[in-house]
Amino acid sequence: MICIPIVGPIQKKSLEDIAAAEPLADFLELRLDLMSDYDLEALLAASTKPCIVTNRTKREGGQFSGSEEDRIEILKQAIAAGAEYVDIETSTPKQLLKPFLESERKSKVILSYHNFTDTPEEIGHLYELMCAMPADILKIVTYARDINNNLALFELLRRSKKDDKKLIALCMGEKGEVSRILSPLLGGFLTFGSLETGKETAPGQITSSKLRDIYRVCDKRDSFKIYGVIGNPVYKSMGYLIHNRAFKEIGSNDIYIPFLVDNVEKFFKGFSPYLEGLSVTMPFKEDIISMMDEIDEMATKIGAVNTVVREGKGWKGYNTDCMGALKAIEKHVDLKNKNVLIIGAGGTAKAIGQGVYEKGAKITVTYNRDKEKGIQLGRELEAKVVSIQEIDNEEIDVLINCSPVGMSPNLEETPISSRCLRKGMVVFDSVYNPLETRLIREAKVAGCVTISGVELFVNQAVGQFELWTRQKAPAELMRDVVLQGLDSKI
Ligand SMILES: NC(=O)c1ccc[n+]([C@@H]2O[C@H](COP(=O)([O-])OP(=O)(O)OC[C@H]3O[C@@H](n4cnc5c(N)ncnc54)[C@H](OP(=O)(O)O)[C@@H]3O)[C@@H](O)[C@H]2O)c1
Repeated sequence: MICIPIVGPIQKKSLEDIAAAEPLADFLELRLDLMSDYDLEALLAASTKPCIVTNRTKREGGQFSGSEEDRIEILKQAIAAGAEYVDIETSTPKQLLKPFLESERKSKVILSYHNFTDTPEEIGHLYELMCAMPADILKIVTYARDINNNLALFELLRRSKKDDKKLIALCMGEKGEVSRILSPLLGGFLTFGSLETGKETAPGQITSSKLRDIYRVCDKRDSFKIYGVIGNPVYKSMGYLIHNRAFKEIGSNDIYIPFLVDNVEKFFKGFSPYLEGLSVTMPFKEDIISMMDEIDEMATKIGAVNTVVREGKGWKGYNTDCMGALKAIEKHVDLKNKNVLIIGAGGTAKAIGQGVYEKGAKITVTYNRDKEKGIQLGRELEAKVVSIQEIDNEEIDVLINCSPVGMSPNLEETPISSRCLRKGMVVFDSVYNPLETRLIREAKVAGCVTISGVELFVNQAVGQFELWTRQKAPAELMRDVVLQGLDSKI
């Protein structure tokens, strides 16, 4: 279930937000401490969803600055006004908390604990203490300094199921986003989602529409598998849009989540029991290899893994970047004996280059600043190696840009002079943001066959999806989702 906080600050705005939140929420939280004026009875009357009335102190991340007695008095008034739920903090002075919890009341009480700086080791002990108190629902919210802090909260959810306790367990911060998505699916009573960006009541809170429409956290699922992308940063990755939409399309309950990771070994050790597969992005494509039980042959040759799959009792690493690029290029040209110029000598050049090499192409590799890297790749691909400044004289049938040149925001940059582009040449740009780079634009003018980086992006995602699900991926739909996602970013 999703709870949307209503934050005012004035009565009129609160009423408007209640109306807007109704279709998206299962619960509303009336944050009285964030409202400069309010008529609580009118707010409760305006909502058809159960309301939690909260009056948070500054100590617990709220704005209420009156006395503790006044704060508790307001909660009592909320009970008298018919609020379904009231939230009271464990840090409330004992002489006020105890009689409040033990009193006869119609409303249910959420007993809450917040920690804005850390997820303490003794969180399990705290849960036990809270279980001993006469509350209806427990709420434990901590700050995730590390992504593995979420695991402590997952463990509490496991215990609460066994203990038959209703528990809200969430981590704050960008590394806690995982818990905001997974908590309701792991048995948590609810998760909080903001009405819109800018109306968050805690760090790392994501929008309710994202929780509901993309992650489908409100859908009933008896069982489901967890996939995701590991990287740093991951906020730019569109994987969560594509894969969650594709799971929905094939009628699967599975879910795909971004994991912001610092230490890939620590992450994998802690999270692997929860996972079925991963996409791997920068900077972990090489580091993940040592954690695999098996590596696919092509990924071994490339020396990088972008896809992790649970196979039997172990983990296998694959690379779908190479296959994704070849699939896009070979729609237009047979690479055997063609002169292929690869711009860049980084990870993408290595992945695509390996596939092009195996197809029997004659390869030239360029380097920019790092000549040694160019020479090394040239050796692996039995390729000629030239500096980017010497390209003018090359004979080219197929040009593959594996450098970031031309990527947003540097829209007017291009890795090669338009003089080198000739009619009939195949030009493939790995860059997909913008959709049409300057290179692709100029190649079209010169009469080249052009292939956008979106094709690689979609094909590598299709490859991942099929490795995980062993089912045909809805490729056209996945392409539409990427195009829409890119469109909304521009
Ligand atoms: N479509 C997709 O799904 C997809 C997937 C992966 C990557 N990509 C694209 O591929 C690009 C490269 O990714 P990567 O992981 O391979 O990055 P990388 O490992 O950092 O390698 C980038 C390469 O580009 C070269 N380079 C940088 N500036 C250059 C310039 N002005 N002229 C010529 N070469 C230049 C670098 O050479 P020096 O180090 O010598 O400067 C390096 O060899 C990304 O920016 C991304 O847009 C797309």
